Amino acid sequence: MNIILLGPPGAGKGTQAQRLVDKHGMRQLSTGDMLRAAVKAGTPTGLEAKAVMERGELVSDAIVSALIGDELDAMGPDMGAIFDGYPRTEAQAESLDAILDARGRKLDHVIELEVNEDALVERITGRFTCATCGKGYHDTFEKPKAEGTCDKCGGHEFKRRPDDNAETVRTRMAEYRAKTAPILPVYEARGIVGKVDGMADMDEVTAAIEAILAPSS
Ligand code: AP5
Ligand code: MG
Repeated sequence: MNIILLGPPGAGKGTQAQRLVDKHGMRQLSTGDMLRAAVKAGTPTGLEAKAVMERGELVSDAIVSALIGDELDAMGPDMGAIFDGYPRTEAQAESLDAILDARGRKLDHVIELEVNEDALVERITGRFTCATCGKGYHDTFEKPKAEGTCDKCGGHEFKRRPDDNAETVRTRMAEYRAKTAPILPVYEARGIVGKVDGMADMDEVTAAIEAILAPSS
């Protein structure tokens, strides 16, 4: 199964992708995570992406589509893919069709996380992750069970993203509205879009996604 999680910054794409990975053994393909890894490693892609990401703008289509193709090639052909934060432009949506086609894969579902933008700044500015295993948390909505210790791996170091500040978030939202939202009608015309209330409790969001995936999983 190959699915896209679509929604603005802070909609819960990464949160729900991690849950699908844990439950179904699918692979999360987050272009944001791949780009952050490239920035950290100081690769040519990372050097090009760093400032763009810090401004909250979009990295070039060619870079992200190449990252996705490489990740898919590194996966077993039977492993399902969760596209998180990709595609984000009409050009990327076209590339994804070609990338999947060339590998004998097809897109099963596009899950749209519908959210109220006003709540997203709070979600994003309160977010942090375990520096060891990457598990996501939130200052208010999802704290570690024991303060300072990761529930998943027991690590004690946490980190926050440099682009998770109120000003950059507004640019990221504007980019979503202008460039990403317009790709939805393309998938709607194919009849593969499932809409989920992303403002609901995290477990309810997960249940709604599972209900959409159930017939094909
Ligand atoms: P990326 O890393 O993809 O960031 P994003 O799209 O801005 O989305 P986020 O990761 O901020 O949000 P999310 O939906 O994953 O929310 P999360 O689950 O963490 O991209 C970063 C940058 O990289 C871009 O700006 C761009 O520069 C570049 N880039 C990446 N992909 C690109 C591409 N394809 N093309 C070009 N450039 C690209 O949830 C947020 C918080 O809310 C968490 O703390 C969570 O605990 C909490 N939360 C989640 N769900 C709920 C809920 N239901 N109720 C309460 N709290 C919740
Ligand atoms: Mg994310």
